[in-house]
Amino acid sequence: MMGSMSDGSSFYITTPIFYVNDVPHIGHAYTEVAADVLARWHRQAGDDTWFLTGTDEHGQKILRTATANGVTPKQWADRLVESAWQPLLKTIDISNDDFIRTTDERHEVNVQLFLQRLFDAGYIYTGEYEGYYCVGCEEYKADSDLVDGTGEYEGQKVCAIHSKPVELLKERNYFFKMSEFSQRLLDLYEENPNFIQPESVRNEIVSFVRRGLTDLSISRQTFDWGVKVPWDESHVVYVWFDALLNYITAAGYGYDDEAFASRWPATHIVGKDIARFHAVIWPAMLMAAGLEVPKQVFGHGWLLVGGEKMSKSKLTGIAPNQITDTFGSDAFRYYFMRAINFGQDGSFSWEDLSARYQAELANGFGNLASRVIAMVTRYFDGVIPDAGVLDAPDQAIRDTEVRVTAAADAAISRLAIHEAIAQVWQLVDELNGYITLQEPWALSKDPANRERLGTVLNTAVRGIGTLAVLLSPVLPVATSKLWTALNGAGAVSDQPIRSAFDWAGGTTVSALEPLFPRIETSETDGSAA
Ligand code: MSP
Repeated sequence: MMGSMSDGSSFYITTPIFYVNDVPHIGHAYTEVAADVLARWHRQAGDDTWFLTGTDEHGQKILRTATANGVTPKQWADRLVESAWQPLLKTIDISNDDFIRTTDERHEVNVQLFLQRLFDAGYIYTGEYEGYYCVGCEEYKADSDLVDGTGEYEGQKVCAIHSKPVELLKERNYFFKMSEFSQRLLDLYEENPNFIQPESVRNEIVSFVRRGLTDLSISRQTFDWGVKVPWDESHVVYVWFDALLNYITAAGYGYDDEAFASRWPATHIVGKDIARFHAVIWPAMLMAAGLEVPKQVFGHGWLLVGGEKMSKSKLTGIAPNQITDTFGSDAFRYYFMRAINFGQDGSFSWEDLSARYQAELANGFGNLASRVIAMVTRYFDGVIPDAGVLDAPDQAIRDTEVRVTAAADAAISRLAIHEAIAQVWQLVDELNGYITLQEPWALSKDPANRERLGTVLNTAVRGIGTLAVLLSPVLPVATSKLWTALNGAGAVSDQPIRSAFDWAGGTTVSALEPLFPRIETSETDGSAA
């Protein structure tokens, strides 16, 4: 798996673990794809990559859903993981190395270990909690998080995110002394400005912590679907405290010190709505335990449908396979990574998806690849010609290959996935322009131009091979078909990405399977999908 360029750097990347109260929609799939593209890129760069995803199965929200469906919470979680969350990973071609469930023994046991250590170190005390709780968020709410309800909730305070009533809690709970970490967190944000990205999320969190942190209630006593507090089994651990620990329990914390030392710390990809848990509570927990804080927390934007954050509870949810059944997994991956600036909100529309599929994937990249392979087959019996003397346009293509490879890699290191793709697409566009101008079909008519024709097609073949390597993290299916047609060495997903332009292949080309088949327009308006 490691390429020759390997510098052996460790790259541990995570997605949030998803609540299993419901089935996935394209907002969840969006997070998965972003993390997957980054993981695949780093693997191809030779980094020692580990990509974790999984499910968040405890807490009141899941308990209530299970009860409403007449099953135990574990039965419910098993059903959802098997029928919906694991299959999602196949639907959108996710290359995760591990899948953690918070009901795994490796998780539950080591949540208890972590908690016991914090207790022994004096960071946990008993107290009285009184305040509001939103079961949808699984979060304690400040008055400023609440708004006046409307319609059936008229006269009640509701959660600003879920528009549903909050519940008044009055319980004797265990508390984590989070307030002690305000200054250390502010120092961390200052010393490492990349710790929270993008800037908008960072600013919001810095000003939140500047107002001062309160201690955090980390246990519940009124229900029992959770990890038991080790020294007091009448309490279960607060679901967020439990869930955040997945990032270290999956990496070996408490049972495989070597794996843990080589993987941790991680880069966390999360939606901006949960960035605060990851950039405030989570590093404070780690500091208290004497562990390293995460490498980075990146809070991406929301997928909007009709101007609102897409969600199942607001009935705006779209299932990922509604898109992939028609357009395929590559197009799903490409569309969301290309059309939305990673870090900002973006609106989904069937029209935009369909237009980009046609213009960029089918006509831009797919057609380029099939024309080049077809011309080598027709004019040189499938033998890739050598290049003769390079003219300026031929050299320009080679220069672009080198330039966009470096620029895309730099963009990925900033997690600017959309920019990386835009850089690579300069090569798609330049190659299309190059072929139009060089007119190989015209050169083929006069045997005197044989060497020139060879140089042009050699340049074009080199270019599409470079594209296969560079686009493999985003378009794993199409690029592997192209790689097969180029008789490339090994699997395209193993090709060193930082030297994509140096790719090695066979001496001939083979037939190319269609990369982006034509889609009947009646299927692309969404109604048939
Ligand atoms: N279980 C918690 C995370 C615990 S991580 C230790 C959770 N789960 S979730 O299933 O509700 O959401 C998981 C992720 O999906 C979040 O990052 C959330 O932002 C993301 N998305 C949910 N709806 C989304 C959109 N409409 N758009 C983009 N991302 C969205 O929170």
